Amino acid sequence: KTVINKEPLVLSIDVGTTSIRTMLFEKSSHVFKKTQINYKSNNKKEGISELCAISDINNNIVYCLNDLLANIDQTKYRIVSIGIANMRESLLAWSASTLNPISKFILWNDTRNKHLIDCLKSKMSVEDLEYFRKKTGLNNLSTYFSAGKLKWLLENDLKYFVPQSSEDVVHVGTVDSWILSNFTKEKAFKSDISNACRTGLFNLETLKNDPSLFKFWDLKSADFCSKGMMRFPEIVSSSEFYGSFSLPDHFKNDKIKENIMKWLDNVPIQGCLGDQSASLVGHLKFDEAEIKVTYGTGCFLLLNTGPKRPAIENYDNKLLTTIGYCFPNLGDGKVVYAIEGTIGQAGFLVNWLLKNINLVRDIDHLTEILKAYNNKQSSNDIVFVPALTGLYAPYWDDNCRGAIFGIDSNTEQKDLVIGCIKGLALQVGIILKEMKKYIKTGKMEISVDGGLSLNNEFLALQASLLSEKDYSLNRNSNHEATSFGCAVASAFAYQNPENRVMWNDIDELKLEVSSYQKNLKGKRKNLFSCNPNDYFLNAEYKKWQAAVRR
Ligand code: G3P
Repeated sequence: KTVINKEPLVLSIDVGTTSIRTMLFEKSSHVFKKTQINYKSNNKKEGISELCAISDINNNIVYCLNDLLANIDQTKYRIVSIGIANMRESLLAWSASTLNPISKFILWNDTRNKHLIDCLKSKMSVEDLEYFRKKTGLNNLSTYFSAGKLKWLLENDLKYFVPQSSEDVVHVGTVDSWILSNFTKEKAFKSDISNACRTGLFNLETLKNDPSLFKFWDLKSADFCSKGMMRFPEIVSSSEFYGSFSLPDHFKNDKIKENIMKWLDNVPIQGCLGDQSASLVGHLKFDEAEIKVTYGTGCFLLLNTGPKRPAIENYDNKLLTTIGYCFPNLGDGKVVYAIEGTIGQAGFLVNWLLKNINLVRDIDHLTEILKAYNNKQSSNDIVFVPALTGLYAPYWDDNCRGAIFGIDSNTEQKDLVIGCIKGLALQVGIILKEMKKYIKTGKMEISVDGGLSLNNEFLALQASLLSEKDYSLNRNSNHEATSFGCAVASAFAYQNPENRVMWNDIDELKLEVSSYQKNLKGKRKNLFSCNPNDYFLNAEYKKWQAAVRR
C-alpha cells in the first residue's frame, strides 16, 4: 500500500551525439529532474566521429543517474519503468562473453568509410541500388548507415580479431543493443525495430534482417563472420520488457552503485526507440500526416505515415522511409512507418560558428545578428551550403562539403553567420516541400523541439523559409520530447492496461499533457508562422539550388 501511495515517475536515458541525458517524468509530462553530461572526446580528425563505449557512454550514464537520483525523497516517489532513446546508426563490436568493446563506437556522422562506400557503389548497377532502396527504405549506399561502418570495421579493427575459443563470439550492434547488454541483469542482446531499420540490413516489408542484404553489402566474406562467430541483436518492438536494470559489471564504485540500485533494482527497462522516433512519440504525433522537426546535433524531420509501408516505388529517392515506432500493446499494435528528412548538422553548425571559426561570440551574439536580419535591418546575399559532414536529404552526397557563395567587398562577418543559419533553414524548407508529396492536407502545424528551437529569432527565420504559406511551427512546451518519447514507450509496455500506472491509453496521455501545457505559467510565444508578404522561399530556393549544383 505504501508503494502504491508513492508518486510514480518514469526514467529516461537518452544517449545522444554530444551528451548523455537522464530524466524523470511525472504523469503530466513535467520533467521532475534531469541531468546531463557532455562527452569530452569527439570529432578529432577530419571524418572521425567516435566515442569510447565504456568511458564516454557507460560511465557517463552511471554518473548522470547517480546525480539524478540523489536527494529525492524515497518515501514519496518511486520509479516504475525505464526507457532508452539513442542516436541511431552508430556501431560497435564487442566480445559476447566479456562485453569488452573490440572497436570504438563509430558514430552516425563519421565518414571514415567514404572511400569504401564509393568503391562499393561504383560496382553497383542502377538496378542494384534500386533493389536496396526498395528493401530498406534507405535511399542509397552512404557513410551514414551502420552496414557501411561494419564493412569498415571488418577491414580494419576486426580484421586481426582472433577468437580465443569457439564461444568467443563477436556481438555487433547499435547504441541501444550495447546499453541493453550492459544495463540489464539478463544482458539482453536486443535492438528495437526503429534502430534496426537504420542498419541497411533490415527489410521494411518482412520487418526482419534480410540475408540478401548481407550479401548486398558483401559482409559474409570476413572469415569469422562466415563461421557464424559474429552475431547481431534480436530485433524487438519499441515497448516490451527487455530486462531488469542493473549496472555494468565493470563499474566498481560501491557508493554510487548503492545510490542507484536503491532506486532501480528490479525496475524494468521496457521502452527503447531511436532518438528521432522517440521525439515523434514525445511530440505525441501518433496520427498520419503529422510532422515533427528536431534541431539536435543534426536536424531530423519525421512525417508519420501510419501502419502501411509507404509506396517507395512511387517516389524518387529523396527522403528515407523508416520505422516510426512499434507499440504492441496499444491499439492494433502494428508498426507505424515514417518518412524522414535528415540534415547532417544543426547544433553542430552553431558549435562550429562558435568554436571553430569564431564568427559569433556566444548565443546572445547569434540572436542579435538573427534579430537584425529578421527586422530587415540587414539583407543577405550569401548562399552558404553548410554540408560540413556531407550533404544529406534531399541530395545525399557524401562527398559534398561546405561552400560559401556570393562574397563581395561589402560582406561582413554577420552576413556569413546569417547565410550559414539560413542554409539550415532552407534545407528544412526544401525537405518539407518533398514531404508534401506524401500528404493531402493543406494547413499544418509542425511541432519543433531541440536546442535551436529555443531561439525565437531562429524560429522566426525558419518560419519565413517554410515551403508552404499555410505551414506554421509550433514549439513544443515540452522541450524534452526525445526523452519523454522513450518514457512513454516504457509506460505502455504492460499488456494489461490495469498495470499501466502512468496512462491507460493515448487519449489519457494526450489529455494529461495538454492540460499541463495549458496551465504552464509565464507562457512564451510558441507559434511561428510566415507573414505572406515575407514569403520568399522560391527566390532563395533558386539561389540555393544553383549553389548546390556548383
Ligand atoms: O541518425 C542520427 C540521430 O539519431 C542523431 O540524433 O539528436 O544526437 O543529433 P542527435
